[in-house]
Amino acid sequence: MPNDVSNRRKFLEFFGRTSAAVSLTTLVSDSSFAGEAIRHLASIAPPFKPITPGKQDTVKLAEGFQSRVLIGYGTQINSQGEKFGYNNDYTAFIPDGKNQGILWVNHESTHTLFVSGRKPLGPPTKEQIHAEQLSVGGSVLRVKADKNGEWNIVLNDPINKRFTALTEIPIVAPREILGKKVAIGTLGNCAGGVTPWGNILTCEENWYYFYGDVTYSDKAQNRKHSVSSKFGWENFFDYPPEHYGWVVEVDPRKGTAKKLTALGRFAHECATTTIARDGRCVVYSGDDDDNRCLYKFIADKAGSLDTGTLYVADLKKGRWTPVVINKHKILQDKFVDQLDVLIRCRDAAQLIGGTPLDRPEDIEIDPTSKAVFVSLTNNASKMNIYGSILKLVENDNDPLALEFSHSTFVTGGKASGLACPDNLAFDRKGNLWVTSDISNNFLNMGPYSRFGNNGLYYIPMSGAYAGKVFQVAHGPIGSEFTGPSFSPDGRTLFLSVQHPGEEGPSLSQLSSHWPDGGKAVPRPCVIAITGPTLDALVI
Ligand code: FEO
Ligand code: CA
Ligand code: CA
Ligand code: CA
Repeated sequence: MPNDVSNRRKFLEFFGRTSAAVSLTTLVSDSSFAGEAIRHLASIAPPFKPITPGKQDTVKLAEGFQSRVLIGYGTQINSQGEKFGYNNDYTAFIPDGKNQGILWVNHESTHTLFVSGRKPLGPPTKEQIHAEQLSVGGSVLRVKADKNGEWNIVLNDPINKRFTALTEIPIVAPREILGKKVAIGTLGNCAGGVTPWGNILTCEENWYYFYGDVTYSDKAQNRKHSVSSKFGWENFFDYPPEHYGWVVEVDPRKGTAKKLTALGRFAHECATTTIARDGRCVVYSGDDDDNRCLYKFIADKAGSLDTGTLYVADLKKGRWTPVVINKHKILQDKFVDQLDVLIRCRDAAQLIGGTPLDRPEDIEIDPTSKAVFVSLTNNASKMNIYGSILKLVENDNDPLALEFSHSTFVTGGKASGLACPDNLAFDRKGNLWVTSDISNNFLNMGPYSRFGNNGLYYIPMSGAYAGKVFQVAHGPIGSEFTGPSFSPDGRTLFLSVQHPGEEGPSLSQLSSHWPDGGKAVPRPCVIAITGPTLDALVI
């Protein structure tokens, strides 16, 4: 999810600057773009016929792909009456027996009008906040394949469970944080990862949307609640912002969770894991905001992420710098202990030379080359409106290496046909799937017009078309595709359709009616994409 409040302001400023420097007419959509792109792709016989960008209120797919809704906001999932949450994001399939598995789904944020009935971002009542608190977090769902290999959610299965902003979750840390070792709830759950031992990592991204944020004076103890939130929950609940912004490890079989402070606190987009040669888990994570950093965590021992060392990427020097108080005098001057460094990780990373990046979002490791791919969505402050995908190669392809090289893999824009890359997934043949995240405030406007609604894209990693972008699908009005993941046989792509019609100002002025059509209120849903073209690409 974009940091939409600040982004709107920054991009409006940017558009203002752009129109002074460059004629906007050279940037806005021209009808020849799609035609040119298609002629070019046709001349090199693409793996399938990509769609042209579009604006329809539907999931439009290229020929030979089909989709169906698996589950959507508000569906009751268990006998306790818990309901599938709002704004589904990251999905992960955990195999759990023959023809069955567990599907984890993140619920990143809420929508005041569609969830609690208050005007978009209007003043809340306590009851409205309570409804919103129940709509975020994550869902554990039983999934089973039928005899045709089609995956379906098993409603009311005993394993089905919600984690919400009201679930008590222990904090794994050497001391209390603001007097507590248990946090109330998880929120801002954007992307994530899966541990080698089959647990889910769910990432708390824009934590300050919910209870606001605090600022600290120079030496840590002086703290004040200075930043008001988007949703205004702090009006009724005095929960410390420092209890959010962590990676949360969920055991979906036991239904337990814990917050992992060793991986640092920032707007965690994802937590992408790999196993080092000595069996320890290594986790990559980006801090999704303009000019924030890329991190790597190396666990102390195999089978646990409770303790380890956090590093921040210095792209200039091509090295990982430990975010460790004992290694830097300046951190000793400004922070009281290592947990303080981890809580205020953004400040610490800046002080020790972490490279500011263009909104690092999802990260995936190429199963063939072992290179690490990082979506850099955009950066209004640097007038980078289309973003790019960064390729990082660890020395000797060793996840324990402390030095690396890097290059740009794809540059967003007219030439590539992709803008604002966000979520990434490799299929079982090692080709890359990408979703775009053009902010809802700018979809189909100005320099983004040519890209239509947000989409799903396929990038072959080898052969004649290596590195070229083919559009597989676009989403409904106002939506963003998030959380792509594959079933173990590769033949089903689970995909979240997040925030359709988010911009509709009232129930009588809806901008989307997806998926139910007619006059229905839009609902975020998880869909399953299948079909002969997908089979041809992955089998
Ligand atoms: Fe939740 Fe950075 O996307
Ligand atoms: Ca995003
Ligand atoms: Ca994202
Ligand atoms: Ca991913």
